[in-house]
Amino acid sequence: MKYGHFDDTNREYVITNPKTPYPWINYLGNEDFFSLTSNTGGGYTFYKDAKFRRLTRYRYNNVPVDNGGKYFYIKDGDTTWSPGWKPVKTELDSYECRHGMSYTKFKSSKNGVEAQILQFIPLGFWGEIQKVSLKNSSSKPKKLKLFSFIEWCLWNAEDDMTNFQRNFSTGEVEIEDSTIYHKTEFKERRNHYAFYAVNAPIDGYDTDRESFLGLYNDFDSPDVVNEGAPKNTIAHGWSPIASHYIEIELKPGEQRDFIFMLGYVEVEKDDKWERKGIINKKPAKAMISKFDTVEKVDAAYEALREYWDRLLGKINIDSGDDRLDRMVNIWNQYQCMVTFNMSRSASFFESGIGRGMGFRDSNQDLIGFVHQIPERARERIFDIASTQFEDGSCYHQYQPLTKKGNSAVGGDFNDDPLWLILSTTEYIKETGDFSLLDEMVPFDNDASRAKPHFEHLKASFYHVVNNLGPHGLPLIGRADWNDCLNLNCFSDDPNESFQTTGNKKGKTAESLMIAGLFVVYGKEYVKLCKRIGNGKEAQEAEKHVNNMIEAVKAHGWDGDWYLRAYDFFGNKIGSDENEEGKIFIESQGWCTMAEIGMDEGMVEKSLNAVKKHLDCEYGIVLNSPAFTKYHIEYGEISTYPAGYKENGGIFCHNNPWIMIGETVLGRGDQAYEYYTKIAPSFLEDISELHKVEPYVYCQMIAGKEAFKPGEAKNSWLSGTASWNFFAITQYILGVKTDYDGLVIDPCIPSKWNGFKMKREFRGAVYDIEVQNPDHVSKGVKTVLVNGSAIESNVVPILEKGKAHSVTVIMG
Ligand code: BGC
Ligand code: NOJ
Repeated sequence: MKYGHFDDTNREYVITNPKTPYPWINYLGNEDFFSLTSNTGGGYTFYKDAKFRRLTRYRYNNVPVDNGGKYFYIKDGDTTWSPGWKPVKTELDSYECRHGMSYTKFKSSKNGVEAQILQFIPLGFWGEIQKVSLKNSSSKPKKLKLFSFIEWCLWNAEDDMTNFQRNFSTGEVEIEDSTIYHKTEFKERRNHYAFYAVNAPIDGYDTDRESFLGLYNDFDSPDVVNEGAPKNTIAHGWSPIASHYIEIELKPGEQRDFIFMLGYVEVEKDDKWERKGIINKKPAKAMISKFDTVEKVDAAYEALREYWDRLLGKINIDSGDDRLDRMVNIWNQYQCMVTFNMSRSASFFESGIGRGMGFRDSNQDLIGFVHQIPERARERIFDIASTQFEDGSCYHQYQPLTKKGNSAVGGDFNDDPLWLILSTTEYIKETGDFSLLDEMVPFDNDASRAKPHFEHLKASFYHVVNNLGPHGLPLIGRADWNDCLNLNCFSDDPNESFQTTGNKKGKTAESLMIAGLFVVYGKEYVKLCKRIGNGKEAQEAEKHVNNMIEAVKAHGWDGDWYLRAYDFFGNKIGSDENEEGKIFIESQGWCTMAEIGMDEGMVEKSLNAVKKHLDCEYGIVLNSPAFTKYHIEYGEISTYPAGYKENGGIFCHNNPWIMIGETVLGRGDQAYEYYTKIAPSFLEDISELHKVEPYVYCQMIAGKEAFKPGEAKNSWLSGTASWNFFAITQYILGVKTDYDGLVIDPCIPSKWNGFKMKREFRGAVYDIEVQNPDHVSKGVKTVLVNGSAIESNVVPILEKGKAHSVTVIMG
């Protein structure tokens, strides 16, 4: 069953039934100021950091699940309704929600009144616009009452939902003209406030939640709306809100537009007040005047659309299958921007107070984003590297506002450092900018300990070399990529976190996932060293990479697949000898991508074993059989019910590792089949089961041993976005960036006739046409650049500012 459809021309997903199986959301904002918006108007807004600077309140784990947001109430005689259906939930005559690139539009009607809302954050602006248009499409005059509604969050989202003994006494607001100002804590340590304005005279307002709603009412039937009159309340403590009240008369056919703005202002410490107790409103007024007419708003919306035209114009394919094209050209790239911006901080599954920016997460997110805005990727690489220590270890997370490592979570996730080599080399391959290697980048956020960025890569590489276990394989630390494989944490206390409890200081538990990862990015490190003329270091590093390959062959092979790990006691994990968890996906992915034991047939055997033991109708599960009892020596992984999350769920992030592994073998049919199993646009028809948005990837789909296989959770913020984009564009379609050009090496389904890709690269446009006359999966016979054959499949860096045709004939 579907709840809407794709509109590819407008790059929108159009939801036509508000009762989606879960709230289907969108993100507004691209740089500093962000909102989450559901298809019924739920969600919230923050500046930079969803924990420390939250403007509007949102209650996670609520009943019903998505309650609270930026709401409008339209009172038309005895009928009250909301353009986004919620909160009033009056049956609408028509409803449409269009989630587009950083904007959302609602269009609905009831009893001859049409309402449209365009919601977006103008580029470079710290405010969100809601353009509300109301039209009388009936033949009689209409008298409408419009109420807006938002609920202020008292800035620190964690405090806001825990520290009530204080919070209920701090709330403060001011009102001037049609603007409601939220100034809680402004008097003391905050030099910022927020406001909610409308570009029309108002007929009243409310700022005290209980007065507006009535203590025993829900959002669907506020007292004020029921009575049809505002109370003009000024909040003193409790829960401040902002609600405008406007009376509107519309002749038949008449339309009126209102511009609402939710803004955020920072002021200088010594310029906070207009006079005693009255805040300096100048900056807010300047913001309001920037977008106080429909024309100004429409121009900003156009600019946003052009911005996305430019970004998405950089990679564009024509494969003949709309489902694939819309993933690659639109939604997957869009999601990569969102994961770049949010890391794992704020979604409808991530509360915005817990996980900030992740060292491994943000590095991986970059591989799906670097082509979009390389300058921002460069800055991000330095932010991440600054949270590393001289020995290569690092903080696992940092807060976006402070950019400081989070010491409560700490470090010792031994895969973390290696991802910095991935992000840095991908950045250089995209841009050709080697200069970032020489930039001075702090260790532990301490400028006095800064060293050239290259030294961070070196530290990352040697962190593995200096932390090997008894088999010469990498020590796992608290966990590797799989946060739930906690082999040095034997926890029997439900009050401890598996991620932060390392109660065994073991030097035995080793990871085959890190081993494969080290070989892949160790080789990249060697290649980079050679490329920058550091032959000595390349030679030294190569020795360590080769040692690792040998260690995997000697101690990491189980006969038909790669082992997953050795536990604290030196026992095998992910072996046929084990009763549960006999085989795991991560080490198959990384060791096959690393081509370890390729000549001995290990790569092929491993991927065949994945097909046999891990693949299912909805994707590739993480491990099999899933754990059915708690293994204290394995940690969090065995706490999940079988088939969910890291215990036998389809953890979508790692499926592309297998796709890439398949391309190493040249098995394009298999690689693509795996791709289509988890690509959301291919799952649109089973939306009812899949549950989450059909336009973005989710972290996890319940696996074959779950109660409900195919049901997904944790949409939006997952490394799945960037890895799938990387796998489809660079390995399956096979247009791969490299230091000296674009390597073209597709690995596609044999039945394909070919495809086209437009790729902007180093300032030139590559119009690539791949032809597959012999219906092979892999192999390039001829490459023509602007009509002339070249010798290899590496298309060199071509003249900037021009379009070049590249014809590739497979065979
Ligand atoms: C989840 C992981 C997540 C970790 C972060 C675990 O409960 O299963 O996916 O990375 O928490 O703290
Ligand atoms: C989600 C985390 O954000 C990521 O860092 C981790 O690799 C996966 N879960 C797997 O545990």
